[in-house]
Amino acid sequence: MDVYVWLPVLVTGLCVLFALLSTACPHLAQDCSYMLKAALFGLRLERYKRRARFYSILDCFLAAVRKHPHKPFIHFMKDTHSYSDVDRQSNKVARALQKEAGLKEGDIVALFLGNEPCFIWIWLGLAKLGCAAALLNFNIRSKSLLHCFSCCGANVLIVAEELCGAVEEILPALKEKSISVYVLSDTCSTDGIKGISQSIARAPDEELSPSLRANVTYQSTALYIYTSGTTGLPKAATVTHERIWAASFIQGVSGVTSNDVLYINLPLYHSAGFLIGFTGGIERGNSLVLKRKFSASQFWDDCRKYNVTVMQYIGETMRYLCNTPKRDNERDHKVRIAIGNGVRADVWNEFLNRFGNIYVRELYAATEGNIGFINYTRKVGVVGRVNYLHKRFFPYALIKFDIEKEEPVRNADGLCVPAARGEPGLLVGKITRKSPFVGYAGNKQQTEKKRLRDVFVKGDLYFNSGDLLKIDHENFVYFHDRVGDTFRWKGENVATTEVADILNMVDCIEEANVYGVAVKGHEGRIGMAAVVLKEGRDFDSTDACRVVTNYLPVYASPRFIRIQSLLELTGTFKMKKVKLVEEGFNPALVRDPMFFLDLVKKKYITLTQEIYDLVIAGDIKL
Ligand SMILES: *[C@@H]1O[C@H](CO)[C@@H](O)[C@H](O)[C@H]1NC(C)=O
Ligand SMILES: *[C@@H]1O[C@H](CO)[C@@H](O)[C@H](O)[C@H]1NC(C)=O
Ligand SMILES: *[C@@H]1O[C@H](CO)[C@@H](O)[C@H](O)[C@H]1NC(C)=O
Repeated sequence: MDVYVWLPVLVTGLCVLFALLSTACPHLAQDCSYMLKAALFGLRLERYKRRARFYSILDCFLAAVRKHPHKPFIHFMKDTHSYSDVDRQSNKVARALQKEAGLKEGDIVALFLGNEPCFIWIWLGLAKLGCAAALLNFNIRSKSLLHCFSCCGANVLIVAEELCGAVEEILPALKEKSISVYVLSDTCSTDGIKGISQSIARAPDEELSPSLRANVTYQSTALYIYTSGTTGLPKAATVTHERIWAASFIQGVSGVTSNDVLYINLPLYHSAGFLIGFTGGIERGNSLVLKRKFSASQFWDDCRKYNVTVMQYIGETMRYLCNTPKRDNERDHKVRIAIGNGVRADVWNEFLNRFGNIYVRELYAATEGNIGFINYTRKVGVVGRVNYLHKRFFPYALIKFDIEKEEPVRNADGLCVPAARGEPGLLVGKITRKSPFVGYAGNKQQTEKKRLRDVFVKGDLYFNSGDLLKIDHENFVYFHDRVGDTFRWKGENVATTEVADILNMVDCIEEANVYGVAVKGHEGRIGMAAVVLKEGRDFDSTDACRVVTNYLPVYASPRFIRIQSLLELTGTFKMKKVKLVEEGFNPALVRDPMFFLDLVKKKYITLTQEIYDLVIAGDIKL
């Protein structure tokens, strides 16, 4: 039969079938469109991998430079840097570092920088030399900073001028290990830290030979990104070049095009800002607006000024924007897509009501995890959908979890039990070649802790996300909570044991149990600790404040402390947290003495009902 005859018949038939199915399954069109998009990106990565030559995100950047050299790549404050500017600047950085530090393929360099354009060209410069970069969180200090630096195996540290003081604190330990430290300024008076800016300014800006990075493959480590995992100090998640590609496709899957202007106001040291924002921008070839720090009051003005069409968010971003005073022009902007995670349904609705019809792409993913979801429908409050293709390629499950014992429920055969529909369960992702779990740098024990064995059959292996999710009868996926040993505050994960270790340094404290408590009107949970004092000692509120503020970033500090005479343990000798979390910090309900960390007075003050009321009313800023 002639194609002109059967094709229309086939198409009509398919349309009718589709219409029928759509009535039965209202989200079919969205499911199909998402599956198709995701599959196309998956195929693209497979195609890259089959090429004779390795094709990295850096190669993609270089192709964009050739294609549109003068297109703006980064807007930052008053400056605009084109693709070609950034390319040349990264050549200078690479040449300067090659000369000064003798960097070569396979070396690891730690970056301790705020959000600024040089973050981007330093990274590109390192990629041109075939080096991996460790992205240090610029809020961390002392012991934590030293630990993060050391665990990735870097032998060079590059620091922003304004962060030099934090590096000076750990300089003796760095010197002992013969680490080279470079500061982004012309000179530095501190012995052991060298200024590198002049050397960069003087270096030639010619392209570097690809032979310098000839041995880099998809499986090579490109980045270390720190995650505050389940226990202890932050861990360096290994991000391979393959992984960069996968994360960089998120913009494309979310409908972002090369004409879009993306606003990055999240820190570049996290995967959201770096992988979804920055390298995703390279993949799309679009323009980025980089912000040093999120500002709710400047947000929409920035969007108007730069014609921003895509924004990134975390739950707090949305809430802070909704908390700004109403303005007449607040719907006057071009933002059409928001990509991020952690927004609550009520805030989401308010956000849409106030700022217009923005397509919110809520996603769920962990830097090191092997499973992610993306909200590709228009349903408020969900992080994604159960999708046949997705599940087939990246098998995952929600399993029953015992919150008291903080471990998965196991049946008589020692296997895990799937959670029922609508019941929160621990998300686990099967570790396969297609969805690997690379683990953490220099930390076998932590890597092993995230692996869960004997889940559905003896000998199988899953990645333990540490997150409780829920799937409803319509196959929508919802985020429920974090399991016990971490909590999230101001967009940062906090490991409770890391905080407890610091509290144990306070002279009067015998033992500490750290957890997060919910506060009305805030995303996540704020830090709280139940502590037992040493025999015969009083709580030293000034010393406790000194230790906490010296050693912990503000978001990780326990803002509430509860004094107990004894910490309750579970049957398996873990500290009981569930009850403490539920009891919270209301002095009307808790009989134990409680203290509140007053950052202005620089000490812990007695938590009275009055202070409690001010906190709840939002009159004391947390
Ligand atoms: C790549 O690997 C080969 C063989 O191991 C080695 O001889 C060569 O020096 C490496 N190239 C670079 C740039 O390190
Ligand atoms: C934003 O768009 C307007 C109108 O299309 C244009 O005149 C202006 O130059 C654009 N601004 C930037 C920073 O691209
Ligand atoms: C998905 O995005 C749509 C459109 O912005 C939004 O209305 C809906 O609430 C989102 N659903 C989830 C689960 O995030």
